[in-house]
Amino acid sequence: MNIRAFALVLSLISLSVGSSQLAADPSATNEIDSEAFYCIRDMTPVRGFYVDNLSGDLKATLAAASAPDGAVYPEGSLVQLVPGEAMVKLSAGASPATNDWEFFELDVSPEGTAIRKRGFADVVNRFGGNCLDCHAKAEARWDMICETGHGCDPIPLTRDMLVLLQKTDPRCENNPSLTAEEIATLQALRQAATARN
Ligand code: HEC
Repeated sequence: MNIRAFALVLSLISLSVGSSQLAADPSATNEIDSEAFYCIRDMTPVRGFYVDNLSGDLKATLAAASAPDGAVYPEGSLVQLVPGEAMVKLSAGASPATNDWEFFELDVSPEGTAIRKRGFADVVNRFGGNCLDCHAKAEARWDMICETGHGCDPIPLTRDMLVLLQKTDPRCENNPSLTAEEIATLQALRQAATARN
């Protein structure tokens, strides 16, 4: 083989290594699209948050969510506390730094869901906070699920505000009507979020 042919073979090998690395990157495969997300209150409630399983094994996700000493959530688990943020569990080994969770920042409207940001270590929410920085502080046995008392820094939203955001998910068809106080709280929340955008 002459030197030019050898160089060509070498470059083909490195090209194919490059593309298989790309395929191993779960965000590049884009398997999860905006269709995965829907009205938060149509998901299954667990204490204060909601879950589903995009691979069809809701039972396994519920078992992990209700394990008294914590558990590793199964592949396909979708977890949400508010309509605009989600965590999805990818296959084992997909992203060791995030325990295989992919973080999503979503834009929700009556038309549906649009993915505003997605990824692993560098997704930042509307309040300027990095998802992983906070969620990684949960004790290991909770698999980066914060709730309260798992070790994460608190979020600047009271339980009432969280319930209000869940009640007003614009993708839901049966949203309850709001009191004047709730409307004022909601407006203050929207302003706090847009001030950061
Ligand atoms: C300031 C720290 C902080 C940041 C930043 C943050 N979270 Fe959280 N997150 C929390 C805390 C604390 C809770 C639990 C709140 C509660 O239950 O009252 C939570 C709850 C959640 C839940 C429900 C399950 C759970 O862990 O309790 C999801 C899903 C979630 N966050 C996703 C995200 C995503 C996605 C981002 C980034 C776009 C993000 N979070 C950014 C602290 C944070």
